[in-house]
Amino acid sequence: MSRKIVVTAALPYANGPIHLGHLVEYIQTDIYVRFLKLKGLDAIYICADDTHGAPIEINARKQGITPEQLIARSYEEHRRDFAGFQVDFDHFHSTNAPENKHFADLIFTRLREKGDIYLKEIELTYCPQCARFLPDRYVMGACPRCGAADQYGDACESCNATYETTELKNAYCSICKTPPVRKSSAHYFFRLSAYADWLRGYIEDNPHFQESIKGYLLYWINSGLKDWDISRDAPYFGFPIVGETDKYYYVWLDAPIGYISSTAKFCADTGRDFAEYWEREGSEIVHFIGKDIIYFHFLFWPAVLKGAGFNLPSKIFVHGFLTVNGEKMSKSRGTFFTARDYLDRLPPDYLRFYYASHLSADPGDLDLDFKHFQDTVNGKLVDNFCNFAYRVFQFTVKNLEGRVLPAAPPQEDKVRDLAAGVLVDYESRNFHHAVRGLLEISDIGNGFFQFAQPWSVLKTDREATLKITSSAIELIKRLAILYSPILPGLSARIFATLGLEKAVLADLETPLAERTLGPSEPLLGRVQDVTFTPPHPASLVHLRVARVVEAGLHPKADKLLVLKLDAGDHQRQIVAGIRACYAPDDLVGRKIVVVANLKPATLRGVESQGMLLAASEGEVISVLAPEAEVGSRLAVGGVETAAAREIGIQDFAAFTIEAREGKVFFNGEPLLAGGVQVSTDRPVTGRVK
Ligand code: MSP
Ligand code: ZN
Repeated sequence: MSRKIVVTAALPYANGPIHLGHLVEYIQTDIYVRFLKLKGLDAIYICADDTHGAPIEINARKQGITPEQLIARSYEEHRRDFAGFQVDFDHFHSTNAPENKHFADLIFTRLREKGDIYLKEIELTYCPQCARFLPDRYVMGACPRCGAADQYGDACESCNATYETTELKNAYCSICKTPPVRKSSAHYFFRLSAYADWLRGYIEDNPHFQESIKGYLLYWINSGLKDWDISRDAPYFGFPIVGETDKYYYVWLDAPIGYISSTAKFCADTGRDFAEYWEREGSEIVHFIGKDIIYFHFLFWPAVLKGAGFNLPSKIFVHGFLTVNGEKMSKSRGTFFTARDYLDRLPPDYLRFYYASHLSADPGDLDLDFKHFQDTVNGKLVDNFCNFAYRVFQFTVKNLEGRVLPAAPPQEDKVRDLAAGVLVDYESRNFHHAVRGLLEISDIGNGFFQFAQPWSVLKTDREATLKITSSAIELIKRLAILYSPILPGLSARIFATLGLEKAVLADLETPLAERTLGPSEPLLGRVQDVTFTPPHPASLVHLRVARVVEAGLHPKADKLLVLKLDAGDHQRQIVAGIRACYAPDDLVGRKIVVVANLKPATLRGVESQGMLLAASEGEVISVLAPEAEVGSRLAVGGVETAAAREIGIQDFAAFTIEAREGKVFFNGEPLLAGGVQVSTDRPVTGRVK
């Protein structure tokens, strides 16, 4: 039996949808594994959802559901989206599964017994109101450099300064707005420092690691590796540490262990031997990752595996980030596309082809430029390959009863050389070169068919015509095999017409035996301009004028009010954090603006169906006071706010809404109600939330 190869892609967070950035990785890895399988190697593609951590616990709480419910929902969505893009995992597991707990406990215990794990008392930021330690992202305050309000605990979006959470001015807990305190706690640490020399050798000696990445890694190692904090205090969503009740494994400890446990589950389901992958010598472990998680995969993870006695990764391939039209994907610019957004409009083949045409072994960024996307798909994929194949099939069926005879492709030697080059390019992950080679092969086919003019030959010589079409079809068969890692769906359809089972490399140069073509349909159509333009930001959010019909105090939170709203055609209840500036009586009868497509959340035990918009300047909070009819929708830049789906609070935070001396702007443009720019109740200048 041949050597076992396990290939992984990084585990997507169960906290949000799969987006086009993620797909750079999952499609790239899928192409690579499909290529290995095409060669006949015993490779498997392993992944899982990364389900643990503070954000999942906090988000679930906000939505009024359990973390288990939240991750179950993501699991279904992720699997459906991956299937939609023809990303074919051999197993897709969850890190919140019994197998993962087993391996997390086993690895932790082994490391502790070796003396690689120790306990140490440390000081952390703690919210007394929420009774929880706060990860950096959940502490907000004013930037210590420029003073901008409402910045995250690690970096300022206004002046780009980075700092320690403890340096923030007027810090507050982003969940409940209370100022946090310092509190000490005992945490478990992994002795990464003890692995520095071993890691240096592991990295320097590996011929497969990308040179530019090695440079960073050796620099980090030479600057000194710090021991790694691998525990978190309750409340946390994760596995309790063996022998502890209120301490949990840090999500980044048990996440990569998901690679192991997902393989174990695959082996249990298919009767394979787990040891052949992760324990016994001679296997190959290949990780694909983005450039943001290099430290975890090249330093922590190999050290943990080494310490716990598992096989080490032999290849770790790093890729860059997706940009859209040259810029970071952005919700407010309307260039943040989820997998679902894309699949609602276009077939997966186009994106797979576009990514393949731009992917190389270099960890540089990849740009999705809409104009270029359209040109690439139409010119290269549709015209050069799909239309050619379909034209040949149709001609053959119409004029030759679909007959095909064994034949050599046109320019056989050249085609053989090009095909060999394509295989080398797949192996080295230079998929953009593979596509170039494939296009040269289909150019040969197009040129041949055009020049040989079978439609003229047919008038005098049927046998000669059959030779031409058979030769073209032999070329199409080779293309379908060679394209199958990138375009598995398209390949399978061509194979069905040819009456072949599945693509294997061994069939590449064996001429098709005599046969009759099955039915064929046009393979893929051209992309029209309109199909893939970014949505206007106004189409992502629904802002609506509503009237407050009842207002009362929140029973459990002294900053919150509970309001009943008349939103025109329906009633809804919301919870609003404006009690510092508004008494319930100030509000009854007033018109306000509500975010109507926000996922319902439970705020300290009371359900909130949406959110009221208010601007704040220092201590002053001022609600938006629209003058339009109750139930009318607000508009931005001539577009009415209207959204097909619910959004989360983070999605909403991606818009920039601000008041300038009482006038409200949405992403820089006036926010209109009934055609008039909305004002705030008091003339403040500040962010609207
Ligand atoms: N959960 C961690 C990985 C744990 S692996 C043991 C994580 N999840 S993620 O959902 O944020 O990202 C998953 C993978 O997608 C990562 O490799 C990440 O680099 C990649 N990408 C996420 N956004 C991306 C782009 N915009 N562009 C390209 N790849 C991106 O990190
Ligand atoms: Zn708090």
